[in-house]
Amino acid sequence: MAAEKKNTLTITDNRTGKSYEVPVTDDTLRTLDLRQIKVNPDDFGLMGYDPAFTNTASCRSAVTFIDGDKGILRYRGYPIEQLAEQSTFLETAYLLVHGELPSARELEQWSYEITHHTFLHENVKKLLEGFRYDAHPMGMLVSALAALSTFYPEAKQIRDAEVRRKQIYRLIGKMPTIAAFAYRHSRGLPLVYPDNDLSYAGNFLNMLWKMSEVKYQPNPALEKALDVLFILHGDHEQNCSANAMRSVGSSHADPFCSAAAAAAALYGPLHGGANEAVVAMLTQIGSVKNVPATIERVKKGEMLLMGFGHRIYKNYDPRARIIKRIADEVFEVTGRNPLLEIAIELERIALQDDYFVKRKLYPNVDFYSGIIYQAMGFPVEMYPVLFAIGRMPGWLAQWEEMLNDKEQKIARPRQIYIGHAQRDYVPLSKRRPAPAAAAAS
Ligand SMILES: CC(C)(COP(=O)(O)OP(=O)(O)OC[C@H]1O[C@@H](n2cnc3c(N)ncnc32)[C@H](O)[C@@H]1OP(=O)(O)O)[C@@H](O)C(=O)NCCC(=O)NCCS
Repeated sequence: MAAEKKNTLTITDNRTGKSYEVPVTDDTLRTLDLRQIKVNPDDFGLMGYDPAFTNTASCRSAVTFIDGDKGILRYRGYPIEQLAEQSTFLETAYLLVHGELPSARELEQWSYEITHHTFLHENVKKLLEGFRYDAHPMGMLVSALAALSTFYPEAKQIRDAEVRRKQIYRLIGKMPTIAAFAYRHSRGLPLVYPDNDLSYAGNFLNMLWKMSEVKYQPNPALEKALDVLFILHGDHEQNCSANAMRSVGSSHADPFCSAAAAAAALYGPLHGGANEAVVAMLTQIGSVKNVPATIERVKKGEMLLMGFGHRIYKNYDPRARIIKRIADEVFEVTGRNPLLEIAIELERIALQDDYFVKRKLYPNVDFYSGIIYQAMGFPVEMYPVLFAIGRMPGWLAQWEEMLNDKEQKIARPRQIYIGHAQRDYVPLSKRRPAPAAAAAS
């Protein structure tokens, strides 16, 4: 007779010969259940070791579902393809934060609140003006987000749902304003204040590009493309920046400081800086004829193919597919970006090369987004800032979910200590001279 099936795991500790039965829930084992496994009563107990969290769930989440092997991405159950096609960024932001699509009235109210929290305190403007002309806009964004916490001290009341709501309006509302101010500062252009008659993306374009016209009219195709790009960046479950948002938020820092930490995490070239690196790489390749030589260098391990590969997707990133489609619509307005030919050829060769096939390396969201941003006239430094605008609702949804999760506490990983055992302090006069000093004497 077949053994009765149980949702447990039996572990035999060969050090002691003892067996333990631990529960398995959602195909997952709680590493705290390993703690009971000890060699002797004074032993700390068994831990899990997982640098970079490659096989450790840090939370239970209802925000975003990804099946990396199948190339599926859903926000709150809705496929990204449907949202990109039929929703708007503000509606998707509502969905991410609240968990459900809004009714017409809820959407109107939500859009009104966000639109009416787009202005920055004049002192934030002064703060941004204090940056050097060539300051990276991500440095300015991170600083401005942290600075906002000093303007809204009530944001510390993270247990008050009403207060949290207000900061959510502010953070989503003010992101484009900070981003546009950072851009205009780098160009030495006068700052343009928000125009509340325009859509979220339309107003952003207004604050970026308005010159002497009385009323800025955004190009509808570019406005729509930007809105879809924001939707595609809305959330991506427990990525590096969401993890930073949750981790800093878990100490009950206010959401502005937590969002500054998340934006800082996004700044890195392996996360939000990748599309900047893609454009730099494509520019360096320079021509389609140089593509095969580039692929050879990648295979020799001399360089990474930026915009390829993903920790989770081991299939075509569904966002990359949508972005590729938007590219055509944008290029109809802006003219074709010559880097696109190089990108398409790189993708063509890579997708049939054994090196990439074996490692399941496919284009990710950043492979094409940079080319679109460049065609729209954004300097490369602005790319991670655009990513951050889209990602803000996701960070906030993750943050609120973490705060409302009774199982969560301040995030505090364990370590395996590999340093010295205890040793006695050596007075300066008795210490070995440093090698450089020894050579000089
Ligand atoms: C995204 C990324 C950090 C994921 O990394 P990861 O899950 O830790 O994957 P690994 O670095 O373990 O890669 C597995 C293998 O593929 C190779 N690889 C991964 N990405 C590669 C790339 N972009 N170009 C060439 N080789 C790559 C690794 O060298 C490794 O090869 P090996 O098994 O021979 O050592 C990585 O793919 C990368 O650096 N990509 C480029 C940057 C990028 O586009 N980031 C945006 C993410 S949205």
